Amino acid sequence: MSTPSLLILPGDGIGPEVMAEVVKIIDWYGEKRDLKFDVTMDLVGGAAYDKHGVPLADETMAKAQEVDAVLLGAVGGPKYDVLDFSVKPERGLLRLRKEMDLFANLRPAQCFDALADFSSLKKDVVAGLDIMIVRELTSGIYFGEPRGIITEGNERVGINTQRYTESEIRRVAIAAFELAMKRGKKLCSMEKANVMESGILWREVVEEVAKDYPEVAVSHMYADNGAMQLVRAPKQFDVIVTDNLFGDILSDCAAMLTGSLGMLPSASLGAPMENGRPKAMYEPVHGSAPDIAGQGKANPIACILSFAMALRYSFDQGDEATRLETAIEKVLADGVRTGDLLADEGVTPVSTSGMGDAIIAA
Ligand code: NAI
Ligand code: MG
Repeated sequence: MSTPSLLILPGDGIGPEVMAEVVKIIDWYGEKRDLKFDVTMDLVGGAAYDKHGVPLADETMAKAQEVDAVLLGAVGGPKYDVLDFSVKPERGLLRLRKEMDLFANLRPAQCFDALADFSSLKKDVVAGLDIMIVRELTSGIYFGEPRGIITEGNERVGINTQRYTESEIRRVAIAAFELAMKRGKKLCSMEKANVMESGILWREVVEEVAKDYPEVAVSHMYADNGAMQLVRAPKQFDVIVTDNLFGDILSDCAAMLTGSLGMLPSASLGAPMENGRPKAMYEPVHGSAPDIAGQGKANPIACILSFAMALRYSFDQGDEATRLETAIEKVLADGVRTGDLLADEGVTPVSTSGMGDAIIAA
């Protein structure tokens, strides 16, 4: 196998600060585990605008299409608020998602034991939680036609259309089954087949795809019940696959079971490339955090966990991903905390690089 390639786009604000810790970890893998990556660093967002006058240069876009995975920090900041909409930092991110056609959004909810007290739920309900929500990202009610606000008689009518083609459902279902094979081989599909035709089709197509994955235990649940089950007993799930609208809500709900924004990774996957790996972009859920940027206060764990996802889902290095997650678990159990994870004032926070160093040491 050739050296896996990675395009790193640190971006703006705390993006470069948290990404610097990932780069240290990548170097560690090269030195200590003989796991080497062909890394290209480039600009996105405001940083790209400052240099090129656009939030994503064409050459960077072309590189993103070529590599095995893209790892992105965060984009945006007050300095760029005055820019025209067409060149805003966020447009760089949207261009990547659109042109790479990243239709499956992966949002894990993983609860490290040491942080279980942070959850709004009881500790035993969330301790050890490790689930993955796969949300369809490029179709459904946010894109369906007709849409708009029209006048009918003497009142206004707001219209959005839930529309899914068979192939749109199939490709996200396949992505979810592939993930389930790399995880606990359990998949729950959520829709509202009781009241929506698009949900009936969704369920049928998921059943068809399931035939190709006999090892995966499949279940179906109405999405409203799914919401209840997520807060009642989230550990019953492994992979959940759902549409754009339900996924938007259920993934935010699941993410918050586990605590701080500084801990949440994500991935967006597209169609398989020639080498069989899906096109992929990994990024923390958080933004550029201008309020703490440049002060060494940012928690790098969300970005480091995003890299762990890349190891598992793009580079077939599940054991190394687990090694990294175990190191994070240990550091947290030892009481090492960045400012966002501090519950009581008696503990002194570590810096961004202090957290990265502790994880490497572990
Ligand atoms: P934000 O996620 O940047 O920050 C929200 C709050 O969480 C802030 O108080 C921040 O200090 C804290 N926070 C975020 N990440 C943290 C970390 N790793 N460690 C410790 N604390 C952390 O969201 P906000 O403030 O709404 O947006 C700031 C800028 O980021 C805006 O320009 C926005 O457009 C952009 N943004 C970019 C995203 C991306 O690149 N994917 C996503 C969300 C926002
Ligand atoms: Mg949302």
